Amino acid sequence: MARGRRIDSLFAGEPGRCSRLTLAAAGLEIDLSKQPWSRDDRRLLIDLARIGGVEAARDRLFAGHIANASEGRPALHMALRAPDGADWRAAGEPVSRLIEATRTAMRTFADDIRSGARVGATGKRFRSIVHIGIGGSDLGPRLIWEALKPLDPWIDLRFVANVDPAELAQALVGLDPAETLLVTVSKTFTTQETLTNASAARAWLRAAIGPESDLHLVAVSASPEKARAFGVPADQVFGFWDWVGGRYSIWSAVGLSCAIALGYDAFEAMLGGAHAMDQHFQTVPLEANMPVLLALAHVFNRNGLGRPIRAVVPYAQRLRLFAAFLQQLEMESNGKRVTADGAPVVHQTASSVFGDAGTNGQHAFFQLLHQGTDVIPVDIIAVRTGSEGDPSAQTKLLANAIAQAEALMVGRSEADVRAELVANGKSSSEIDVLAPQRTFPGNRPSSFLVLERLDPAHLGALIALYEHKTFVEGVLWGINSFDQWGVELGKSLATRVLSELEGGPSGDHDPSTAALIVRLRP
Ligand code: F6P
Repeated sequence: MARGRRIDSLFAGEPGRCSRLTLAAAGLEIDLSKQPWSRDDRRLLIDLARIGGVEAARDRLFAGHIANASEGRPALHMALRAPDGADWRAAGEPVSRLIEATRTAMRTFADDIRSGARVGATGKRFRSIVHIGIGGSDLGPRLIWEALKPLDPWIDLRFVANVDPAELAQALVGLDPAETLLVTVSKTFTTQETLTNASAARAWLRAAIGPESDLHLVAVSASPEKARAFGVPADQVFGFWDWVGGRYSIWSAVGLSCAIALGYDAFEAMLGGAHAMDQHFQTVPLEANMPVLLALAHVFNRNGLGRPIRAVVPYAQRLRLFAAFLQQLEMESNGKRVTADGAPVVHQTASSVFGDAGTNGQHAFFQLLHQGTDVIPVDIIAVRTGSEGDPSAQTKLLANAIAQAEALMVGRSEADVRAELVANGKSSSEIDVLAPQRTFPGNRPSSFLVLERLDPAHLGALIALYEHKTFVEGVLWGINSFDQWGVELGKSLATRVLSELEGGPSGDHDPSTAALIVRLRP
């Protein structure tokens, strides 16, 4: 049984395990040999994927069939990153020409801002962008900018998501309104946080420049008419479509701020990397399919071994936001308790995911990963060639990544610890107390993913890998990975509570909630 078995013992019984479980796709390489599965387990899991309809579901997804049944929409983010000349259909409707037209408009706009052909209301060139959006309209662009921004960017791209006014206040510090472009991103253009921040930022522009400052407004939305009503000039509203889920939208005009600040070519290279991963996912047999195997490793830990948490640790400071990005991608997609037919699920679904950059995490939560009472599988992500700085520091970073994966799996036996304590002259009563505390049980799984470089193409492939992994898990769990009804109740209750905090009539609440409203009323 996998539960009692040691991962490190699987290597002896399975010659070639490491090379067999190291897969390459789209410039990424993953070693899944430190996962707790045996060859038989993997065979069963592949059967499960096949019988569970992963291939058919994938083909339906790529064919643009309705993948998001509760909202009656396809989920066709892959179309956004396909090269020009393709023929993608969303529920039968051709979409490739629309996508290409939007990409052309994005490129022209980005080039014009960068070249100075398009300037602000006072004639000054744009040198800063404030990107306002939340959730899928924020996490992807923020991750990409953090991962790829030049050391000394000449376009200063800042992000504002939270309705907490502190974030906007901080983002505006030191910016010249005459040089600032305000890019509001909202699929629905109804999100409270985004509209609040966009209104405040627009007021900041108008106070400095006057009504002509609307020239500084840009919007990205699947409801372009709402963006225009907000005052954004029509030729500065970039659309996308209801078949692009918010958390899958970075490939659309949602990536505009990054396309401007990094240059459109970088954005296009990112699309290319993601497309390469799409092709791998679509064509490679399940047995060697990277998103499929990554998903199966997760399903094995989650459902086979009952592990409810997973950590993601990129050994790359520039990828430190990756765990936050995955929290939305995985937990909003697959945090579901009923199937797409409305029946209760028969298995546990998404695990909670957390993480931070290595090595920082080693000095924070790794204690629990090594010696805590729960086994928490870890996705370790490393970049072979560092982008900047001292190459020897990059080597130290990689050494830590490798060593942590080894320590998690191999651990350190109590006998070994005892021998060391004896050698250090400790008494037997001291050893009895210390040895268990210094023992590492090991047998803690990890996946080890390597990006050749942290450039747009590899980043695109990385994000697409996790998108498809999330999709495969959703298929196996029988859930709809593309809706998010679980965020709605809080939104509507917040609207009610807001009206009460602002002095409106009291509603019907439990005693605790009613007391909080009274206590926090301004
Ligand atoms: O958190 C819920 C959610 O609907 C996400 O799915 C979405 O990415 C985010 O809010 C922002 O929505 P919008 O882009 O419509 O402002």
